[in-house]
Amino acid sequence: MHKILAKTLFVGQKIHFVPECQSTNDMAADLLKNESVVEGAMVVTDKQTNGRGQRGNTWESSAGKNLTLSIILKPKFLTPRDHFQLHYITSLAVCTTLLRYFRDVKIKWPNDLLIKGKKICGILIENNIRGRSIENSIVGIGLNVNQSSFDYALATSFVDLSGQDYSREEILTILLEQIESKYLMLKAGRLEELKKEYLRHLFRIGDSALYEAAGVQFTGTIQGVDEEGRLIIATANDVRYFEFKEVKFIY
Ligand code: BTN
Repeated sequence: MHKILAKTLFVGQKIHFVPECQSTNDMAADLLKNESVVEGAMVVTDKQTNGRGQRGNTWESSAGKNLTLSIILKPKFLTPRDHFQLHYITSLAVCTTLLRYFRDVKIKWPNDLLIKGKKICGILIENNIRGRSIENSIVGIGLNVNQSSFDYALATSFVDLSGQDYSREEILTILLEQIESKYLMLKAGRLEELKKEYLRHLFRIGDSALYEAAGVQFTGTIQGVDEEGRLIIATANDVRYFEFKEVKFIY
């Protein structure tokens, strides 16, 4: 995992591989305390002892089976208000990678990757703000590859979907190239293209479905995502905007 030869300028060119760590996001944060860490540096491990997920959840991943990594970006061209743009590029990079292997890949807002309605990848992005800029960003990715059983019924993996094992190195190489490509698009001001592509793959967009907010279930249709990354859902009576954690998808 430390000998990845991605055709990139900077993403994944500096690799910090550790056989085991608490969390690659935590390790990346430690590296950032040392000013000399280069943009695109990646921390990757075979085993996390305290993998962290969104909403304070833990991220479970069998040792040596999956991809658990964090990439350090320095998107100083973004303001804190633009933070969702990092979700666009990361979820799209994973989506494009998965589409090399499978069909019917969906992005569940804000950034879960689903195949056949089951979660194959989770993303945890943690930003450090300085003044009006995002000084650096830790993009943590957990992608299920060769793990065949899960405690969580709505989880899946490459092997679960196809019955065969895959090369984690090969998948990681594609992923790194995709992250750099989408990041450079963003840096070049091509946000609208990225947003359009994200919406094209968005789970449930345009479909009437069930949600829950503040303990109340309602039927609505996802219309898109606003500038601050809020999910836009139209109901029979109005159009509602939700921050992350404010709305639950009901199945
Ligand atoms: C989620 O809850 O869906 C996000 C999961 C993110 C997991 C990855 S694994 C690599 C990185 N290190 C962590 O501790 N978490 C992220």
